[in-house]
Amino acid sequence: MEHILNNGVTIPAEGLGTFRAKDNEAYEAVVHALENGYRHIDTAAIYGNEEQVGKAIKDSDVPREALFVTTKLWVDDQGYLKTKKALHKSLERLGLEYVDLFLIHWPQSYELTRDSWQAMEELYLDGFTRAIGVSNFNIHHLEHLFETAEIIPQVNQVETNVQVQNYKLQEFCMKNGIFLEAYAPLMSHQIKDLLSMDDLKKIAKKKKKTIPQIALRFLLQRDIIIIPKSVTPKRIDENMDIYDFELTDEEMASIYKLNNGKKLFPDPDNFLI
Ligand SMILES: NC(=O)c1ccc[n+]([C@@H]2O[C@H](COP(=O)([O-])OP(=O)(O)OC[C@H]3O[C@@H](n4cnc5c(N)ncnc54)[C@H](OP(=O)(O)O)[C@@H]3O)[C@@H](O)[C@H]2O)c1
Repeated sequence: MEHILNNGVTIPAEGLGTFRAKDNEAYEAVVHALENGYRHIDTAAIYGNEEQVGKAIKDSDVPREALFVTTKLWVDDQGYLKTKKALHKSLERLGLEYVDLFLIHWPQSYELTRDSWQAMEELYLDGFTRAIGVSNFNIHHLEHLFETAEIIPQVNQVETNVQVQNYKLQEFCMKNGIFLEAYAPLMSHQIKDLLSMDDLKKIAKKKKKTIPQIALRFLLQRDIIIIPKSVTPKRIDENMDIYDFELTDEEMASIYKLNNGKKLFPDPDNFLI
């Protein structure tokens, strides 16, 4: 399944996350994912694994143009000149000539983010990235960006899962042609809490699927891009095996009720360095 971004670029609806996947673990996970149908990989400069991700891509038989690779600009690298330098460094580590999506990892002050965005736009126009976007942006961050932006972001990657469902933000993004992309779709380091949710257990049993598969399918049916992370081959496969069933309106409604806004990652308004 794929989506078309506001600049016409196609993005696979699901990718492999790589946060906290270190060294050989990241390499092996990406190799396995690419051998088993994944065509979209999410990394970031701060994850420290761009080299391993790049090596796995290079060692795979998948042609570059069939792949969608995302990386992100870390907060220390924000600013007009630093942003440009940072993408070139990421490309060097990845061993790629371009990425498919470059994201501002966390908003900083409006001014700094504005300057970084100008550099992102130029990097995009110069062909070093096929799409540009943001991450951890609330509505007010986007509204400020729109004041000076020449190019509207294609994606906003934010924490989204059964507990943090982000309806208002998604509505705002969709109205402006921005796709919402869910990080921590399986509740990240708190996946144990997800696995113990009775409502999800019931649905999983009925559908003969696992709880992670139900949680991912829920986001997919809301047109949210998902990037579940796993370094375990069986789970990497399991997370991709979500295209042969559909949640009913009633099942979707019972998951809507789990929305309690309990975030596992920092509030972007309190993540200024
Ligand atoms: N933009 C941002 O600020 C930001 C922040 C956080 C994450 N991200 C991106 O989003 C991706 C996903 O988020 P995340 O890594 O925090 O969390 P996640 O994908 O919600 O959860 C990952 C955890 O779930 C486990 N897991 C995965 N599939 C499973 C399955 N089928 N059954 C049981 N356990 C399973 C993984 O274990 P194993 O790996 O041990 O299998 C890992 O512990 C990241 O990897 C990263 O690429 C972006």
